[in-house]
Order: sequence, then C-alpha cells, then structure tokens
Amino acid sequence: MHGTATARAGANIALVKYWGKRDPVLNLPATGSLSMTLDGLGTTTTVSFDDALARDEVVLEGQRATGAFRERVSRFLDFVRQEAGISAHARISTRNSVPTAAGLASSASGFAALALAATRAAGLDADLGRLARLARRGSGSAPRSLLGGFVELPAGIEDDGTDCVPVELAPPDAWDVALVVALAAIGPKEVGSTEGMERTRQTSPFYPVWLARAPSDLRDAREAVADRDLERLGRVAEASCFAMHGAMLGCAPPLLYWTGATVEAVRRVRTLRHDGVPGFVTIDAGPHVKVLCAASVAATFARELARVPGIESVLVERPGPGAEIVE
Ligand code: DP6
Repeated sequence: MHGTATARAGANIALVKYWGKRDPVLNLPATGSLSMTLDGLGTTTTVSFDDALARDEVVLEGQRATGAFRERVSRFLDFVRQEAGISAHARISTRNSVPTAAGLASSASGFAALALAATRAAGLDADLGRLARLARRGSGSAPRSLLGGFVELPAGIEDDGTDCVPVELAPPDAWDVALVVALAAIGPKEVGSTEGMERTRQTSPFYPVWLARAPSDLRDAREAVADRDLERLGRVAEASCFAMHGAMLGCAPPLLYWTGATVEAVRRVRTLRHDGVPGFVTIDAGPHVKVLCAASVAATFARELARVPGIESVLVERPGPGAEIVE
C-alpha cells in the first residue's frame, strides 16, 4: 500500500474554552467551545503509507522523533488504519510555524493536519464528520482547526460523539479582527491539558460552576460573532478564560499556568482599554497572553505588550483558513 498526502492546518485559540471531558476514551468535551483559527501559526504534515516500513517513522522539524511524541502519532495512525482496513506503517513528517516547545496550541493544528493528511493518504473519504472524530482522538481542540475563521465545536449529547462536529460561524475574511499573541518565557514544567482537566474534574470545587456557566457563554459568544460585536465577544471571552483559570486554581494541588509576565500583560491590556483602546485577553494552559482586538489597533497592542517585562516576542494573527491539502 502506497499513499501520500500533505495537509496544513492553522492553530486555533479558544474564546469560549474547552476544559473537561464527558467521555475520556472518545475524548468528548463536557462543554461546547468557540475559537478563532489563526492565519500564521500552524502545522504542515506529510503522511506516506509504505508496506515496506516495519514501524511508523515520525520526523518533527526535520529530526527523528522518539518516545512519547512518536507513540502519540503512531497511536493516532492506528485509528486511521483501522478505518481504512490497512496495516501499512507510515512515514510522517511534520513542521510547526512556531517552535513546538513554545506550547502554543500546536497539538490542535498538529492533529487537524495529521487527520487530513493521513485520511487522504489512506484513501479514505475525508468528510468533516470523520475528520472531526479522528482529530478529536488526538486532541479535543483539534476539530476546531479543521475549519477557518470563527468556529464552534458543540459538546453534543450522543454517546458516540457523532454530534460533536465543528461548525463555521464566520469565514476568515468576514471580520476585520486580530489576535495579538504575547509569548512569555515558559515557566516550570506545566501539567498537560489532559491531566489538568482530569485533576480539575476530580478536585476543584469550582468545576461544577465552570460547567454550568459554559452554555450561556457559548450562546453569548455565538451571537456576538453573528453581530460582529467585538466588545461583547471580548467580554465573554475574558469571563470564560478567568472562570476556567478559577476552576484550575481550585484544584488540589492548584494548577497555576501564569507567570509574572502573564499578569503584567493582562494589566497592560486593561490599562489600554481604560485609555480607549479596546482589547480583550485570553490565556490557555500556559503563560502566554492573547489579545482579541480590531485589526486597526493590533499594532498598538503588539508594541505595548512587547514592552512588558518577561514577554519574549509578540505575533499578530488574523483569522485564517481551515485545514487543507497542499502539494
Ligand atoms: C486550555 O485540546 O490540548 O487550550 O483534549 O486533552 O488533548 P486534550 O486537550 P487540549 O485542551 C485545550 C485546552 C485549552 C482550551 C481550548 O483550547 O479550548
């Protein structure tokens, strides 16, 4: 069996967060989430099935990968092989447009690109339902990177997850906004999302509160996108973000992903907002701060955030396209 395909997917940043699972095996989210797919940051992956290979060969940024990363990719390919009824191993070569170690949503774009490339290379029909189901097995946030612009991923209620398929709420060019990404130095080794979510579910007294508020956040954000209401989307994004981090802080032991630079960057954004430059923060399971703002003020946020002690670099991202096959 020989089949090759290359796919690219953009990273995505959640404005209404996913944090918690309703089914850990199928990796189904406990709540719906809403994100923006980015135009610059992303992953390009080539998958080549080859009967002559004795095992999967994974190359990350030009270097042969071993250990946990190789295992995770190989386990993912097992799902694709199972669906395609093939047994061939594959050569997988993957590159991120930011260093994987910066911890910037590379798993979402990574598994979206891998799902599309592997499906195509295996000769399977790449419909959205199948791609979403596969991408989700890699990472719960990955199905959102299959689509461009503003994307909702409903939690769904079906046991098999067939109703957990992403929906495009607004295409990339429909809204002139930006996400300014302020990269802070990585602090002490952070707890991964999967483990962090499980700890939150098991130990945080705020987890039920977090779950309870998610549907109304999602509804608010969906309406704000439909109305292109940046202020409303920004307010709900901050509320969702800080509620998630509140639930994390309530864990035993607490999950604290912020560093001093994170807090200073948030304060700088609030000061600018007070001074009449609207921007709204969101933070994931790491120290970086992302600011949602009108494209016209992105350069102001980029300049001001670059001055915050501990912020190492700043990127300006616009809404980008969904995952696609590339030559
Ligand atoms: C804080 O998708 O990385 O970025 O499904 O366990 O792989 P797993 O988790 P992952 O979690 C993302 C968490 C988040 C919020 C979000 O992107 O919605």
